Amino acid sequence: MTAIPASAVETLRWRNGVIEMIDQRILPGSIKYVRCDSASTVADAIRNMVIRGAPAIGVAAAYGIALEALRLKDTSPENFKTGMDQGFDLLAQSRPTAVNLFWALNRMRTLLSSLDSLPQAQTAEQLLSEAHHIHEEDVRINQAMGEYGAALLPDGARVMTHCNAGALATAGHGTALGVFRSAIADGKRLSVIANETRPFLQGARLTAWEMVQENIPVTLITDNMAGYMMQTGEIDAVVVGTDRVAANGDVANKIGTYMVAVLARRHNIPFYVACPLSTIDLSLPTGADIPIEERDITEVKGFRDCLWAAEGVSIRNPAFDVTPAELVSALITEKGIVPNETLMAGGLKAFVEQSAD
Ligand code: MRU
Repeated sequence: MTAIPASAVETLRWRNGVIEMIDQRILPGSIKYVRCDSASTVADAIRNMVIRGAPAIGVAAAYGIALEALRLKDTSPENFKTGMDQGFDLLAQSRPTAVNLFWALNRMRTLLSSLDSLPQAQTAEQLLSEAHHIHEEDVRINQAMGEYGAALLPDGARVMTHCNAGALATAGHGTALGVFRSAIADGKRLSVIANETRPFLQGARLTAWEMVQENIPVTLITDNMAGYMMQTGEIDAVVVGTDRVAANGDVANKIGTYMVAVLARRHNIPFYVACPLSTIDLSLPTGADIPIEERDITEVKGFRDCLWAAEGVSIRNPAFDVTPAELVSALITEKGIVPNETLMAGGLKAFVEQSAD
């Protein structure tokens, strides 16, 4: 498999016929890789947050399909077909919000359908090369997005981000953190303010770790400090990633993003969303149509053996929220910037269609 030029962090790697994923549940305390050899083990890894972040989930799902085909290639045609259908279903049910999962599965399904006349072993090989292709393509897309986004940030900018939209959330480089990496590579001085991101702590555990690995100045705050930091003039821009963008430009991202966007508007701070085209879902007219995952309440109640919530209290755990397009200063895509005016004029669909040409 071709080496992928990315950041220091290897989120997924193909080794000895299986896909290995860095276990994001135990970072930054331990660096361990989880090995997956089938659609079902990849679906479990996605559901359990071994791997997370919209583009990374998409890449993992593509490998899940390839692994399933490799596993079933020597069985009867009936068994191969049924097994592959089950593999697609299992992966599609792993998490609901990030559209990259369904985008990658559609791409693998389209390829599989076109290979009907090939022997199963060759079909499996072709699916594997498509998964490698999606993996490599994701890094290139993030680097292109990084270049466009970097141009929006002034030298010396203090940029806030929410959740982790870094190398760990992608095949490498990252979307929002890719913008920071590209700006620094362009010679800009930048400092990052990472919101902790309750309850799963992607900001504290993952974003902070990625930045520290590369000596990028980073300051960690709890989510409820964001307003104070903006009010005291300590933030120049916000850049976040996204899990799904509706046709009108509404943005689903990690819970708490909406709150940050409202605060940014209150303080006249630009709010940018790094968004690969694969994250735009033109089939959904508005953000109200985006399925929002509700995760297990244990994530809110405490951590491992330490429970801090009162026994018997009712708990909610929506994992994402939707920021209305009107609060988005611009989408940063691999094909260029989509400014707020374009979103407000209903121009996202035309942008995506032109970009495909
Ligand atoms: O629940 P997670 O950790 O998968 O949520 C991830 C996010 O919300 C990211 O901001 C989003 O996927 C963009 S990743 C480039």
